[in-house]
Amino acid sequence: MDWKWQGHVEDFGMCVCVCVCVCVCVPAGFMKSPLSETKLTGDTFELYCDVVGNPTPEIQWWYSEINRADSFRQLWDGARKRRVSISTAYGANAVSVLGVSRLTLDDAGTYECRASNDPQRNDLRLNPTTTWIRAQATPSIAASEHATLPVEGDSLTLQCNLTSAHSMHQESYWMKNGEEIPETRSPNRNTEYRWGFIFPQYDAGLYMCVYTFDMAPPGNATIEVKSAPEITGHKRSENKNEGQHAVLYCKSVGYPHPIWTWRKFDNGIFRDIDNSTGRFYISSRDNYTELHISNLDINLDPGEYHCNATNMIGSRDEKSVLRVRSHLAPLWPLLGVLAEIIILIIIIVVYEKRKKPEDLQDGESPRLGAAFISFLSFFF
Ligand SMILES: *[C@@H]1O[C@H](CO)[C@@H](O)[C@H](O)[C@H]1NC(C)=O
Ligand SMILES: *[C@@H]1O[C@H](CO)[C@@H](O)[C@H](O)[C@H]1NC(C)=O
Ligand SMILES: *[C@@H]1O[C@H](CO)[C@@H](O)[C@H](O)[C@H]1NC(C)=O
Ligand SMILES: *[C@@H]1O[C@H](CO)[C@@H](O)[C@H](O)[C@H]1NC(C)=O
Repeated sequence: MDWKWQGHVEDFGMCVCVCVCVCVCVPAGFMKSPLSETKLTGDTFELYCDVVGNPTPEIQWWYSEINRADSFRQLWDGARKRRVSISTAYGANAVSVLGVSRLTLDDAGTYECRASNDPQRNDLRLNPTTTWIRAQATPSIAASEHATLPVEGDSLTLQCNLTSAHSMHQESYWMKNGEEIPETRSPNRNTEYRWGFIFPQYDAGLYMCVYTFDMAPPGNATIEVKSAPEITGHKRSENKNEGQHAVLYCKSVGYPHPIWTWRKFDNGIFRDIDNSTGRFYISSRDNYTELHISNLDINLDPGEYHCNATNMIGSRDEKSVLRVRSHLAPLWPLLGVLAEIIILIIIIVVYEKRKKPEDLQDGESPRLGAAFISFLSFFF
């Protein structure tokens, strides 16, 4: 691997320009490629290098007027009459900032961050390229502006153009909310993702175009497509007995994920949930929220509960009705049957009593009554 983390400072006439080829060094055993970024403020520029590895790698900065491997010299803190500053922090990862202040035309050139955790990295008898493995070019990608749905005309196109890269690029593809969108792979430097028709709440999300390279980690750019939330599911009603536990929920689509709140609609007014009894518990995560009410109270808890989903674009509200029945409620059907039977028995007994003996014809009626009673006893 012969890759470099480089920054160019070039001069164009009277101006000093810093043009950065963002590359990084990936020594053996590295867990992750470093992230790099450049800043040019006034007459100062800063280069960042962030490396993760185990053991923690050492970071060095090198400079060359011309970009040739054998012409690099190591930079140190305080070089160039104290205009060069290097601050490096070593922790779980190594982070280093190279600063050059009061830029002059002589500062033009290529800057390189090198990192290694090879125990023999500073052994001068070894060829540096064998111990200091250098890698990766982070590309620069021009991406479309963030969008808010709905957009006029019902069609939206997201674009990414690979404007510079220091390695051959293989292909590009699109991702939505961290998942690859099928059939978007293409070998083009300029890539598009287009909708003919938009469903705002479903098409909103965090989009990313990703470019893959032959010899370097992938590079990407993100585009946010925002929309108001839409509540796509909720519990319309919940019927529970007093003392039981009720759970109401709502879920949403839309991006960014909403902030969830629950309120109770009481006598025509929305009220914050009164948790003085400590029986309410709300658990919300991204596109989902739950309201738990434990040990239901038949006097306090029944009513209309509203979940509200709000993000920077808009907000939505849905209601759930909670009914709480008394402890005796499950007995009522049974009590009803019992009451009917008792009334029936009373009617039969009264009827039998009121019959005069002479009305009996061959004892038919008593047999009828006895049959009825034995029929009833079948149920008990
Ligand atoms: C990408 O390149 C195309 C063609 O050159 C251009 O029309 C488009 O505006 C560019 N898009 C971005 C986001 O730079
Ligand atoms: C996008 O790039 C960032 C750093 O620039 C990196 O941490 C992340 O893993 C990349 N994501 C993908 C999906 O390539
Ligand atoms: C909620 O978000 C998760 C991941 O962020 C996703 O897997 C799930 O499908 C989403 N649910 C709804 C209802 O959109
Ligand atoms: C209600 O009070 C209980 C107990 O103090 C607490 O655990 C719970 O988080 C509170 N719920 C809400 C919605 O504030």
